[in-house]
Amino acid sequence: MATAWDPQQYLRFTDHRTRPAQDLIARIPLQAPGQIIDLGCGPGLSTRALKARWPQAQVSGLDNDLAMLASARVSDPAGDYSPADAGVWRPGPEVDLLFSNAVLHWLDNHAALLPALLRALRPGAVLAVQVPGNHAAPSHTLLQETAASRSRWQAALAPVLRPDPVADPADYHRWLAPFASGLDVWESTYIQVLTGEDPVLEWVRSTLLRVVQAVLLTLPDGAAEAAAFEAAYAARLRGAYPRQADGSTLFPFRRVFMVAVRC
Ligand SMILES: C[S@@+](CC[C@H](N)C(=O)[O-])C[C@H]1O[C@@H](n2cnc3c(N)ncnc32)[C@H](O)[C@@H]1O
Repeated sequence: MATAWDPQQYLRFTDHRTRPAQDLIARIPLQAPGQIIDLGCGPGLSTRALKARWPQAQVSGLDNDLAMLASARVSDPAGDYSPADAGVWRPGPEVDLLFSNAVLHWLDNHAALLPALLRALRPGAVLAVQVPGNHAAPSHTLLQETAASRSRWQAALAPVLRPDPVADPADYHRWLAPFASGLDVWESTYIQVLTGEDPVLEWVRSTLLRVVQAVLLTLPDGAAEAAAFEAAYAARLRGAYPRQADGSTLFPFRRVFMVAVRC
């Protein structure tokens, strides 16, 4: 699904968005990979984390959003960034590390997708993936609840409000184990401390809400519909993620990680 990303909005929470990429990198059992692919590189945060860890490697970023690729090239003019769709692209035998941080939850059927990516690697190469596992969190459920609060929103948004694409960690283990000589799967919930006005709304504005707003803007009087939806969703988020006495807002965020060595 095309999301029409906004790189500047995405980069507002750089530290929180880079941390899981670094935690994933820390568990990759490769000393000197020659060729690394950052699948769904976005504006290049994860690509730069990979380059910092393995400065000698050839790191290439792939993404299906041209605005994200343009943003990555601005901050890393010498970098190698190209368009590709993670749903169909597969690595060749030259790839030592296939890395994908916060991308594959935009694609369905992980039971087929994850093993297909691992199986395409040559023996000894590594697949390292992180996906948000927060479909049951208020940030998601309140979006569904807001959509359900008006029948025209519900009808318009039905195609983009997908069922949870992310499985349990144990499922990923079962799916990948037949093709792995080493496998490490885990989950972490980060208690993210955000600041400012409506920070959870601002967080999802570059991801989930962007998809929803794009649809609402196509309705008759779309700008008013989008504004009304945002106000109703923001009010719900304020209740679920109250501001702390010190002015900050806690936004727990669960993520699922996997590192597999191709056998
Ligand atoms: C949340 S950003 C993550 C960017 C980067 N990996 C990082 O860690 O900061 C998700 C990225 O996945 C990309 N993406 C979503 N679906 C994709 C697909 N089917 N093929 C390639 N990229 C995709 C989006 O364009 C976006 O840049």
